[in-house]
Amino acid sequence: MAGIWHDAAAGTWLAEMRSTSYAFSLADDGAALRHLHWGAALPPAALDGLRATAAGGMPGQEAQLSLGRERPDEYVPWGGLRFDEPSLKAEYGDGTRSVEWLVTGHRVTRRGPVSTLHVDLADTVHPLRVTLAYRVYDGFDVLDRWATLRHEGDGPPVLIRQAHSANWWLPLRDSWRLRYLHGGWGAESQLAQAWLTPGKIVLESRRGITSHQLSPWFTLDAGGTATEEDGEVYSGSLAWSGSWKLVFETNPGGRAHACGGVNDFDWAYRLGPGEELVLPRFAGLYTTGGLGAASREWHAWQLAHVLGRGDEAAARGGGRGDEVGRGWMPPSGRTVLDRGDGGDPPLRPVLYNSWEATSFRVSEAGQARLAEVAARLGIECFVMDDGWFGGRDHDRAGLGDWTVSREKFPRGLGPLIEQVNNLGMRFGLWIEPESVNPDSDLYRAHPDWVYHFAGRTRSQHRNQLVLNLARPDVAEWVFATVDRLLSENHIEFLKWDMNRPLSEPGWPAQSGHDPERAWTDHVRNLYAVLDGLRAAHPGVQLESCAGGGGRVDLGILRRVEQAWPSDNTDAWDRVTIQEGFTQAYPPQAMMAWVTDSPNWLTHRELPLSFRFHVAMAGALGVGGDLLRWTGQDLAEAAELIAVYKGIRPVIQRGQLYRLASVLHGPFAASEYVAGDDVVVLAWWGPRQCGVRPGRIRLAGLDAGARYRDAGTGRLNWGAVLMEEGLALPQEPAGTFGSTLVHLVRLGADEAPHR
Ligand code: DGJ
Repeated sequence: MAGIWHDAAAGTWLAEMRSTSYAFSLADDGAALRHLHWGAALPPAALDGLRATAAGGMPGQEAQLSLGRERPDEYVPWGGLRFDEPSLKAEYGDGTRSVEWLVTGHRVTRRGPVSTLHVDLADTVHPLRVTLAYRVYDGFDVLDRWATLRHEGDGPPVLIRQAHSANWWLPLRDSWRLRYLHGGWGAESQLAQAWLTPGKIVLESRRGITSHQLSPWFTLDAGGTATEEDGEVYSGSLAWSGSWKLVFETNPGGRAHACGGVNDFDWAYRLGPGEELVLPRFAGLYTTGGLGAASREWHAWQLAHVLGRGDEAAARGGGRGDEVGRGWMPPSGRTVLDRGDGGDPPLRPVLYNSWEATSFRVSEAGQARLAEVAARLGIECFVMDDGWFGGRDHDRAGLGDWTVSREKFPRGLGPLIEQVNNLGMRFGLWIEPESVNPDSDLYRAHPDWVYHFAGRTRSQHRNQLVLNLARPDVAEWVFATVDRLLSENHIEFLKWDMNRPLSEPGWPAQSGHDPERAWTDHVRNLYAVLDGLRAAHPGVQLESCAGGGGRVDLGILRRVEQAWPSDNTDAWDRVTIQEGFTQAYPPQAMMAWVTDSPNWLTHRELPLSFRFHVAMAGALGVGGDLLRWTGQDLAEAAELIAVYKGIRPVIQRGQLYRLASVLHGPFAASEYVAGDDVVVLAWWGPRQCGVRPGRIRLAGLDAGARYRDAGTGRLNWGAVLMEEGLALPQEPAGTFGSTLVHLVRLGADEAPHR
């Protein structure tokens, strides 16, 4: 069982996770918290030795270089002889710009499978209290951390210029390899790597959304030697859907740390008397099981504690929610743990989405025709994408006018929804409520509702501007608009899109407000709106989309069931994108459509089975123009959807082993293991030089058990499958191919030779 212990005599705190531990102690007579350990489980007695080492500082040249002593501050306040990247930079009313504090209290609470430690640090002169939070979860090696800042007085505001969620010290090793995800539109989640050398590396978004370009997730492995199944790996993931920053820094003493949170670029936050700022969570984990184990730990923990669970920190306030009618705030008391923390989230339905088939040309009859075919295939949720509202016949008009187009749907959405429901499917709808086309009734009525600076260009992207969600009245309007849509129509799924980054984040009409807060207030208000909608409409499931995969992170995943990884639906490109996505996030959260061939973006032609096998690696969807599919295509699709439903729990809840990476050549394979079931998916592209493997070695099986191939009935020992491998079909050179193998472990009575 995970837990957090305090040794009052020694002044240490020890967080114990499944097989790892994390420790820190009081230092400098309570004026600092010194990091002690993050890694393999330690017996509590070992902490005394660690404390002595940390108190002794560093020897010789290292000590000189780092100005006398090593200071692995748990949370680095800017002030004194501290030159590490600060966790906190605050400015007080009298012009003081440094922080000196004392630890004033701590408490551990336990609720269900979750234990949380809060440690308070109070400035010795000024009215600022910082509370560091540490949360552990039974059965997991994930440590969730965040900080809360509070103005405890009645004097002038405290100006916060930088405030990180957490600071992670790494143990001394010769070198560290950093792996992270980068990309762009149509090419999200590409793995990159770099070495931590003296100095610092910054990964960030300055776009107001998580971004397609970089993701707030990383791994660090000592010496770059970790493999998929072996080696020390540290990994971190920030729960923030706005501008964020991660810093990786190696100090002069050779000690590396990773820290981050909301981006301080163009950001400042005036904390008024009594006001509290809850910073986003920053989760970390350590494993000796290699890169694959790190991913599996993230996946399992997110299924149990993140996907669609909400966040009690955000529910407690932040933003300006307390200054206006609180209709859009979630009802108090509905916190993360009340939503069944710890259990498996429901399986994702097989979904159809109309975007690639009909674009903006939607109509009741056209969607109904698609729905009829979709239902015959076994689709469970029919989603109508963009184009159903206002004057939205293209991307230049109508965004913001969330009333059903009477030209396209003269009878409203009701009859289509009824038909979809009668066909046995749920109905879902696309919305993009944070943006507006200048050519819309909303913008004509409220030109001041968008971010802008007086007298400056309002930069358009995809012909749209961003609504100033930092404004309580705008956030309230977004809540009311979507709430009405959901109340008036039987909608069970929402795809929440956001097709551009923020720019010109100004709010000129408002005097006396805190202009640089917009970066964080936008996200906090978005979270509050989503939390409020989920509380008011618990039957509605959500997908996060931002012009493809521009908003995928642990913060949004707390409020949605799934995310759209990319607008690039070319199945071969998706193999790479999906490999990157699932480094950090679970297959269950990864929406994947089968679309038409040739692909609209790459013009590549791929077999239907290949497209299905790629999409079956996540939450399966279909996004092609079904009215143009041949009878043979439709029959094959129906068969593959039925196969998927059979293996869905294994894909969506199983353990993922990456058997072969597409980064090493035109061949990739993944294996999913859940109980007695094993599913292997392999995909390959045209052979260049060399040969494609004839077999693939499996992982995570029971060596002494036999497995039956559900397709062929063939039996094989686990040991043989892991040592010699599973035979793969061979296809002529120059073709794309794929395979799906479902193996079932036999019971002891069925395997007499065990
Ligand atoms: C961008 C999304 O990623 C697409 O799937 C589609 O929903 C369009 N927006 C609609 O405008």
